[in-house]
Order: sequence, then C-alpha cells, then structure tokens
Amino acid sequence: TGAVPVVLNINGRDHHVMLEPRVVLLHALRDHLGMPGTKIGCDHGQCGACTVHVNGRRVNSCLTLAIMHQGDRITTIEGLAQNGKLHPVQQAFLDHDGFQCGYCTAGQIMSAAALLHEPIGQDDDSVRAAMSGNICRCGAYNNIVDAVQQARK
Ligand code: FES
Repeated sequence: TGAVPVVLNINGRDHHVMLEPRVVLLHALRDHLGMPGTKIGCDHGQCGACTVHVNGRRVNSCLTLAIMHQGDRITTIEGLAQNGKLHPVQQAFLDHDGFQCGYCTAGQIMSAAALLHEPIGQDDDSVRAAMSGNICRCGAYNNIVDAVQQARK
C-alpha cells in the first residue's frame, strides 16, 4: 500500500502513524489511532457527528485528509476533559439531558465547545443557527440548546 509516516498532534500528544494519503482524519482517528469517540454519521459533511477541533476551530473530520494536519493541534472528545474534570459543555449536557441515544453527542459537544469562542448572539436562535451543522436524529434539540446556553454563562 502507499502508506507514509504521519505525525499528528492529538489531545496534546504526538502520534506517529502510517497512513495512506487518501485517509480522512475521521478514519485515521478511529481506525488507525484507537480513538473511537469521534463518530461516523453520514461520512460526507452533512451531520456533524465527526466534529473535532483543529487549532481550536470545529472541523468535520470526515471531510479533511489526516495528512494535511501535521503540525496542527487536534482535539477530540477524548481530550476535552482536563485534569479529571469534565469540560463545562460536557457537564451542561449531563445537567440538561442533551442527548437521547447519544450517537451525535460527541460531535454536538465538540461543536458547542468551539462555539464558546465564536462571536454569536446570546439568544437561543443564535445557538440553534450556530449548532445547525450538528444533526440529532432523536430530536433532543431543546435540551441541547439549554445545555449550550448554560455552558456559555
Ligand atoms: Fe462527518 Fe457526518 S460524519 S459530517
């Protein structure tokens, strides 16, 4: 195969891995790096289940090649909690039941955590618009918005 050595900085640590250049970040994380927390939904940029942070910004990891992210700072759901303490968005999702089946939750939380640093309005509609790239098939949207609003306080 055409695998080449790639170094990816994920959750504060360098990971050395052999990857074919065609492998997207989502599949590198799940299939080559043992990090299944990032979920596969649509696999083509429509659902947000695969959201991770690249240099603090949210990215659909199914749409971007892993090899392009050497030198970037990648954060996944596995790295969001710090020092044994949940990220405020994780705690808020628990407090507000921001999930039903939970499949979209990692992506929702990663998206919301990045949104805390984005210039969006304070009202619920602004949150809905900013979170519109993350689909929840159960329809837990009201609780998700409540959770995001708690985390923004
Ligand atoms: Fe990437 Fe749906 S799996 S957006």
